[in-house]
Amino acid sequence: MLYRSLLRPLLFRLPPEAAHQLALKSLAIAPNLTANLLGERFKRNPFGKLRRFGLTFSNPVGLAAGFDKDGIALESLAALGFGHIEAGTVTFHPQPGNEHPRLFRLPIDKALINRAGFNNEGAAAFARRVMGHKPACVLGVSIGKSKVTPLEAATDDYLQSFELVYPVADYIAVNVSSPNTPGLRELQAGEQLDFLLHALQKRNKELAIEHSRNADMPVLVKLSPDLDDLELQEIVAVAQRNNVSGLIATNTTTARDGLQTQADTMEAFGAGGLSGSPLRQRSTRVIATLYSMTQGMMPLIGAGGIFTAEDAWEKISAGASLIQIYTGFIYEGPSIARNVNEGLRRIISREGFVSLDEAVGCRAK
Ligand SMILES: Cc1cc2nc3c(=O)[nH]c(=O)nc-3n(C[C@H](O)[C@H](O)[C@H](O)COP(=O)(O)O)c2cc1C
Repeated sequence: MLYRSLLRPLLFRLPPEAAHQLALKSLAIAPNLTANLLGERFKRNPFGKLRRFGLTFSNPVGLAAGFDKDGIALESLAALGFGHIEAGTVTFHPQPGNEHPRLFRLPIDKALINRAGFNNEGAAAFARRVMGHKPACVLGVSIGKSKVTPLEAATDDYLQSFELVYPVADYIAVNVSSPNTPGLRELQAGEQLDFLLHALQKRNKELAIEHSRNADMPVLVKLSPDLDDLELQEIVAVAQRNNVSGLIATNTTTARDGLQTQADTMEAFGAGGLSGSPLRQRSTRVIATLYSMTQGMMPLIGAGGIFTAEDAWEKISAGASLIQIYTGFIYEGPSIARNVNEGLRRIISREGFVSLDEAVGCRAK
């Protein structure tokens, strides 16, 4: 409440990226404060412990990739009640990202457009920073292709990032779906994806031996909401063939349908990925399709336009067993993880389920 009436109006007076940096840096310098002010009041395990691809989550609500790309505020973010954080996307080569401005608000649509282009300090710097400062929740690390690396050499680039973040990650998300790195989405095509995942899983096995782990690192793939059913079917087959632990659906969309924001404003913003409310149904449709294509056998993380517990429920009942939020966090503020968790608990009992796991995919059954 305080956020929407007081803090958000102040932050929204700043250019979007400046507001983001300010919020992130404030969180980074005050992890104990955040924990004391907010964490203590949060019931951490509202659903009991959730087992997903070999990991234990305290709740289903995660922070989506791109919010804390360099892992500077992970401990504070965990104290806000997220059950997992997907940090990154990091790339092997440090890179500045696209020219500013590259982040835009669409308040009447409860949406954002970004063309950040993987601005990050690189996978090595990420791993150094996070080592010894792991958050008190599951940590996913998203890896992407460096801009300077040609598409044909993408596999080696991903492999180098994979190795670097391996020691600090609980799972690794392979991001092949950002619209802001030229050509990246082509890596979602069957043959290319097969080649990439095969190489990563081979290295995964070798690293497990080197690090004396008795299980492979869970590898998930993050998908675009702009794929048709044929493309999704091919991706599912490739993911299953390569023992992928789960799919993250979805990244931002390049579509612009149904927006209230004026056409000339949209034109002035230019290219980029659209997130928030206008993405919600599109991403839920992808989740429902993936759930039916995998007969509910592959864990799905749902993201896209979640602001409330009802939005999260839409994703869970369509087949997501975890969810992630980015744009909702910007609009609703630091209590969103707690509010969505508490609301979800109420919805699950209202719908007559005894556990979250029992409810996953209920609309598909
Ligand atoms: C400013 C911004 C930066 C993002 N950066 C990344 C990124 O680096 N890697 C990634 O996989 N997704 C990134 N995303 C996509 C989000 O993780 C998420 O998939 C998408 O925004 C849909 O969720 P939402 O509607 O809750 O925002 C970014 C989104 C925004 C708004």
